[in-house]
Amino acid sequence: MRTTTGKDHQEDGRRRIFWAIAGLFVIAVVVLPAGCADAPSPLRPESETAREIRNLAVVLLIICAAIFLVVEGLLLTSILRFRRRPEEEARQVHGNRRLETTWTLIPAILVIIIFALTVRTMATVDLPGGDLPLKVTGHQWWWQVEYTQQGFTTANEIHVPAGWGISAELESADVIHSFWVPQLGGKTDMVPGRTNHTSFLAPEVGIFQGKCAEFCGTQHANMRFLLVVEPPEEFSRWVEHQQEPAREPGSPKEKQGLEVFQSAGCAGCHTIRGTDAQGTAGPDLTHFAGRSSLAAGTMENTPENLKSWLADPAEVKPGNKMPNTPLDEQQIEQLSSYLLSLE
Ligand code: CUA
Repeated sequence: MRTTTGKDHQEDGRRRIFWAIAGLFVIAVVVLPAGCADAPSPLRPESETAREIRNLAVVLLIICAAIFLVVEGLLLTSILRFRRRPEEEARQVHGNRRLETTWTLIPAILVIIIFALTVRTMATVDLPGGDLPLKVTGHQWWWQVEYTQQGFTTANEIHVPAGWGISAELESADVIHSFWVPQLGGKTDMVPGRTNHTSFLAPEVGIFQGKCAEFCGTQHANMRFLLVVEPPEEFSRWVEHQQEPAREPGSPKEKQGLEVFQSAGCAGCHTIRGTDAQGTAGPDLTHFAGRSSLAAGTMENTPENLKSWLADPAEVKPGNKMPNTPLDEQQIEQLSSYLLSLE
């Protein structure tokens, strides 16, 4: 009869560890990417610029995969074929000119190929100029968008006409951010104290998600924007509307809302063109109700969400710079009804 020995236990333990690691690997490979299903992927490009970048990434991935397979293959072969056997010592080799030349030359050639491909892609994605100049400034944690030629400022939603060349000056008001619309182009850093540029050709009509691609503090993940590509005529109408000052409050409730806005300190940080509110620390709210999201893509712009945001911004978006203003329920009701009238 066979009895279990210490060696069997050791073998069992090893097998269990192997299956645990294999299981975790399968979970990681299968489950984790599922979280990215709805994310705007640079692998589904919608502009020529993004397509060039995707193509370069695919070529690099193929080169890297080939290197991985060759290196790991050689490593496994060496481990299995030349592992130490009790009866003999492996042959000791030192210095081999042919081998050393080969493993220096191959990487050098690969680096040259990758460099040439990258320079080529950089040249094709860099548009010489744009039909629509913009200035986008990154703030913790929202986006200020200035239409320099059209003379107005908005936030967190960039409208552009289909087929136009867009060229944006990128700046930062505080820390380093990075401007990225994954399906339209590459990332460009926004660095305090300097102006960077990005350009892309607006594709067919559609709404594209943009995000900050440089860790910039607690709410980095909630620093999003929308890029709305619309037919040129619709874009012109949007511009004309944005250039107008804010709509006058209509109902008594809206009038009270404007008073709350001016007396509670909101006007110190926000601008509403056409009123006394001229603050610049926070987003311009002149046409606030026309935007689809609140707090830079944190949530949908609905009356309920707006009220919870006004009641306690720190609860909705912890760490954000909007101070908690003590407002009672009635004031919140009035303020939100005024803000949501600002079409
Ligand atoms: Cu701004 Cu990350």
